[in-house]
Amino acid sequence: MADVRIETTDGCALITVDRPEVLNALTQETIEALKRAFRDLRNDDTVGVVILTGEGVRAFIAGADIREIAPLGPAEALEFSRKGQDLTLLIEWFPKPVIAAVNGYALGGGCEIALACHIRIASENARFGQPEVNLGIIPGWGGTLRLPRVIGIGKAMEMITSGETISAQEVKECGLVNHLVPPGQLLGKAREIAQSILKRSPEAVKLSLEAIRQGLGKAPKDGMAQEASLFGISFSTPEKKEGTQAFIEKRKPDFRRRE
Ligand code: COA
Repeated sequence: MADVRIETTDGCALITVDRPEVLNALTQETIEALKRAFRDLRNDDTVGVVILTGEGVRAFIAGADIREIAPLGPAEALEFSRKGQDLTLLIEWFPKPVIAAVNGYALGGGCEIALACHIRIASENARFGQPEVNLGIIPGWGGTLRLPRVIGIGKAMEMITSGETISAQEVKECGLVNHLVPPGQLLGKAREIAQSILKRSPEAVKLSLEAIRQGLGKAPKDGMAQEASLFGISFSTPEKKEGTQAFIEKRKPDFRRRE
């Protein structure tokens, strides 16, 4: 696929945005290629976790390709925003955990895509930002909604209105990333988290993601009802039988085993 590579090892798919000459900035074609990659992996039973990263050491994704968006008028920009939002929704609602391995600049749409991922880790040289105001535009791929939820309203207001990029240390302090690692260890750390997830019940992992995402959009009482319902569903699976039985028999569960 143009500009996007997928490599799968041991149940973990690595998606790499591959346009290092423009710091992995996304054209409409790259956005569509990313959507196809996620759709293919959604239906691939051999894959339990996805890691998303950018080619090279300089950038995760430096946002939308500015040369491509510069000529757009308002109606085309609205359409472009919807297409990018669709990608972030596809990632956010992906039924398997998606880990952003941020290896450099995560700016504009790059920061918004990282925000849509379920787990974010970054290398110590990473920089995050929503610099759209420098271009006379605003974030359009969910950043105005997700950033305040992840780092708080005040800090998000500052990042979006000042357009300043923030350092890896600062993003760790405000909770935008879970782990900071030296650049050479980024993919290793992402794979370590992936392998930890892959040992667990795939069905329980999927239902947990569902409960968290559904719960975020609900009033607490409705979220609790949703959680109880998904908790009930988890008790209908062969994996629950295997997990509880393994505990009682003092052995490790084998979630590949099906009855
Ligand atoms: N769209 C298109 N091209 C981009 C890009 C983007 N979002 N970000 C970087 N590039 C290109 C540059 O134009 C340059 O191409 P060139 O070599 O043909 O001139 C190349 O990537 C390298 O970037 P450069 O600006 O030379 O590197 P730098 O280290 O001096 O600066 C950044 C790095 C990230 C600070 C700077 O590239 C930048 O501000 N990019 C735009 C980020 C942005 O506003 N994103 C939101 C878009 S809505």
